[in-house]
Amino acid sequence: MKKTKGIILAGGAGSRLYPLSKIYSKQLVAVYDKPMIYYPFSMLISVGINEILIISDENTLPFYEKLFGNGNDLGLEISYALQKEPNGIAEAFIIGEKFIGNDNVALILGDNIFYGNISFFTNAVKNNKIATIFAIYVKEPERYGVIEFDKDNNPISIIEKPKEFVSNFAVPGFYIYNKSVVEIAKKLKPSARNELEITDINQHYLTQGTIDVIKIKQGVAWLDCGTPESLLDASNLIASIEQRQGLKIACPEEAALNQNFLTIEKFKEYLNSIPNCDYKKYLENILKKYKDYENIK
Ligand code: DAU
Repeated sequence: MKKTKGIILAGGAGSRLYPLSKIYSKQLVAVYDKPMIYYPFSMLISVGINEILIISDENTLPFYEKLFGNGNDLGLEISYALQKEPNGIAEAFIIGEKFIGNDNVALILGDNIFYGNISFFTNAVKNNKIATIFAIYVKEPERYGVIEFDKDNNPISIIEKPKEFVSNFAVPGFYIYNKSVVEIAKKLKPSARNELEITDINQHYLTQGTIDVIKIKQGVAWLDCGTPESLLDASNLIASIEQRQGLKIACPEEAALNQNFLTIEKFKEYLNSIPNCDYKKYLENILKKYKDYENIK
């Protein structure tokens, strides 16, 4: 089976969140108790990916480097790359060409938060042949890339922010490809909004008949954090669930431990680097929880 590496695209203008996004890009803004990027970062780890490239702008990259380092203490390999201008999501594959090499790649947008049972994402990463994207039901599809299906449920086109109603199925910001995506990205022409569009890549694969489109079932939440209101809603939702359950959503340390990317011994070592706080207490409790679960098994 081919290895899959992960890219997080976490730059962009983020102008709708100004002044929150004045100093650094919006993916560093808090969603309840952790920076926004923790959510897509943890998701990549949860689907079994441990080699991750973070792409961002000049101002923000040093902050990510400070936040995550090289990831070795969690059993990860994290590297960083610069996107000089927000030239479009598809540019991530041109910037990431060397990183991708001969492997598969999963791209996640730094402001996309998924919550629920995401094991279908893990399976999709394992089973990807050439290209795999997802379709999720939303109320306001015109804000996204949208997929049109025929009456037999086959995808027939993908349109970026359609003006006329196409369907309620939006394409969320998690995409899986084999290395062919790099050459396709290089051949793209900028769109009317002057961006290299991820939708053009997906439409290319759709025309070739080489894309798998997986409909996400009801029960998985895809949260938006692009405006002050949606950011607050996302924070409140995460807070309610975490406080009720005493379990964190998107804890990279926990995800890495679950994936056996590091040993319990290394995890304990890692804990020494964290100041005394509730987050540390949570991580310490994970070890206890592990023990409890072991006993149940
Ligand atoms: O969220 C899913 C949607 O993301 C898809 O349904 C659309 O097909 C796709 O085009 C994209 O929609 P937007 O155009 O609204 O994405 P936005 O410009 O908000 O960028 C998404 C994230 O990627 C955001 O965190 C900023 C970052 N970004 C974006 C661009 C264009 C970059 O880091 N660099 C870029 O050049």
